Order: sequence, then C-alpha cells, then structure tokens
Amino acid sequence: MTEPLVSDFHDIELPAIRSVPGMTSESECRYLFWLASSQLTGAGALVEVGSWLGRSTLHLAAGLRRAGRGGELHCFDGFTWAPSDPGKSDLPLKPGDNFQSYFEAHVADYSDLISIHRTRIKKLAWSGRPVEVLFLDAPKKLPEITRCIEAFGPSLIPGRSIIAIQDYLYFPAYALAACMHALRGCLELIHVVLDGSTVAFRVVAPIDFSKNKPDDWNPNRWTPEQIDTAWHQILAPLPAKARERLEPGRALHLYNCGAKAAAIEAMSALPMTPFQRDKIAGLSRSHTYLSFPELFAAAGFPGTPKQNLQAKAKRVRDGLRNLLRAD
Ligand SMILES: C[S@@+](CC[C@H](N)C(=O)[O-])C[C@H]1O[C@@H](n2cnc3c(N)ncnc32)[C@H](O)[C@@H]1O
Repeated sequence: MTEPLVSDFHDIELPAIRSVPGMTSESECRYLFWLASSQLTGAGALVEVGSWLGRSTLHLAAGLRRAGRGGELHCFDGFTWAPSDPGKSDLPLKPGDNFQSYFEAHVADYSDLISIHRTRIKKLAWSGRPVEVLFLDAPKKLPEITRCIEAFGPSLIPGRSIIAIQDYLYFPAYALAACMHALRGCLELIHVVLDGSTVAFRVVAPIDFSKNKPDDWNPNRWTPEQIDTAWHQILAPLPAKARERLEPGRALHLYNCGAKAAAIEAMSALPMTPFQRDKIAGLSRSHTYLSFPELFAAAGFPGTPKQNLQAKAKRVRDGLRNLLRAD
C-alpha cells in the first residue's frame, strides 16, 4: 500500500475565484482546484453531490477550466434551504426555500462546464457514464452514502477514479469512515487534506451494489469487536492532525451499536488534544449532544439540565419510532 499524500496544499496558487459563502476550508478549496486541474485525465465526468452555494463547485470548475480540456462537472443538490443554513449566510432565505437561483448566479462564469441536478439523494439517478472524480459533500449518514455508492459505484473506473469525501474526518459523520472501511477491498486512501476534513480514495476494484453490498456494509450492526478492529485500521494510516479529528467517532459508533460502557470508556480514553476539547465543547452546545449525552459527560461536558431533559425526550421519541418501524 502506498502512503497517502498528506498536505494543506498551501503551494497551490488559485486563479481569481469569486468568494461565496461556503462550508469548505481554504485548504479544501485549494485541494479541489488541484484535484480538478491536475489529477483528471478526461476518462470520465466530475460529479459533486452537495454544492450548497457553490464554493466547492467554483474551485472544481476553475480547476477543470485550468486543465483546459473541457469536461463536465455535474452538481447534485436538493437546493432546499435547511433549518441550520440561516446561521451560515445572510441571504434572505427561510427553511424550505429553493436556493438554486443563488447557486446558479454564483457559478455563472462556469455555466459552460456545469450541469445542475436538483434532487434529494434518495431519488438520485445517474446515466451510467464513467465518473472520474466523485466529490461527496451531502451524504453524512448511512442511507445517503449508500444511495450515492449505489448510483455512482458502477460508473467508477477501477485503477483511475477517485472518491473525495468532505467531512470524512468530522467525527459525528463517522458512518462515512465506517462505510469506506467496509469497501476497503475496492479503495485505497490517497489524499488527506490538512486543516480540513476531506480525504480521498482511489477506486482499485469494481464497486457494484447491484450484485452485492459488502456483508459489513451497515455499521449499526457491527459487534464491539468488529468496531475495535475496524477503527484500528481506519485510524492507523492517518497523520496525527487528521486522526485527532476522527478518533472520537469510535465512541459514537460503539454507543449507537448499544455498547454504551465501551463507548464511555473510548471517550474517556481520548488523548483530548486541544482540537478535540474545542470540537467536543462546541458540539456539546449543538443538537449532537442530544444523541450522546453520556459521551459528552464522559468527555467533561455534562450538558445543562434543559439539554438533559431534551435528550431524555429524544430517547423516548427514538424508541417509539423504532417500535413503529418494527411493526
Ligand atoms: C455541507 S453542504 C455543501 C457545502 C458545499 N460543498 C460548500 O463548498 O460550501 C451540504 C449540501 O448538501 C445538500 N444536501 C444535504 N442532504 C441532502 C439530501 N438528502 N438530498 C439532497 N441534497 C442534500 C444540502 O442542500 C447542502 O447544499
């Protein structure tokens, strides 16, 4: 196995690119430009799932243009303003609004390269044409990553295509790392973006879910032993600055599989680097707290009495929902 390229891509000089609100870091933007400008051969399309207001799109499109061989950038998004979006931009939009026109205006300079697909991920469909780079920034949980791999997997070219995943290193989205681990026979880790949460894999063997999903595809069904072995392998190739971002995901994974004591132990055993402390402190004030109150307490963030009541109510609601589903 070759070592992944680990970089913040500081030496990449960007052309003038319009500044728009976005959720990708500066190093991730430089990475996306580098990827599209220098790592494509034209063997297939560039696909982005999760464009939001176009920051990542602009860097991919600018890279394609720099490469100078034309090419296609297909952008998939629901373009429906989410309840958490208003805090991230001051556009006059309210939850539920269609924001596609803002995206279109932001990326207008590259409209000759871009095809826009407004769709929810669960309805996502692809023509079957080869895909050389699949950049994922919408799927964060099992159902969405499953649909993306179902739809695009058969179009990925073994030995050539790249899957780049934003938030792979964001530990509440640990399902991404677990699912890529389940595909380990088909993937090789090739890029780790420092000062960001993106990593990328080379596809080395065909991925076709229409035949069979890997036996361990659903990480919610893993045993604690499977989780331990997998997380050892997931974390081992990562440099310390990337590893510290993802490492708490192992505790969340154990917790969601019902291994609460092991999860609390895993959280308590974290090295608790300054990055981990800051990130966990921030998340302890967010809705993530409600799903893992004991883990935040184990990390030294016990939550407020109001949060603990909300967490209890959420547990009751989740339990009822599961009962109804079981019917
Ligand atoms: C993290 S943002 C993408 C950020 C963007 N790449 C950037 O550079 O700023 C995630 C995007 O995925 C879209 N998204 C999330 N879940 C989705 C779903 N289930 N179906 C369709 N789009 C979805 C959202 O509308 C949002 O635009």
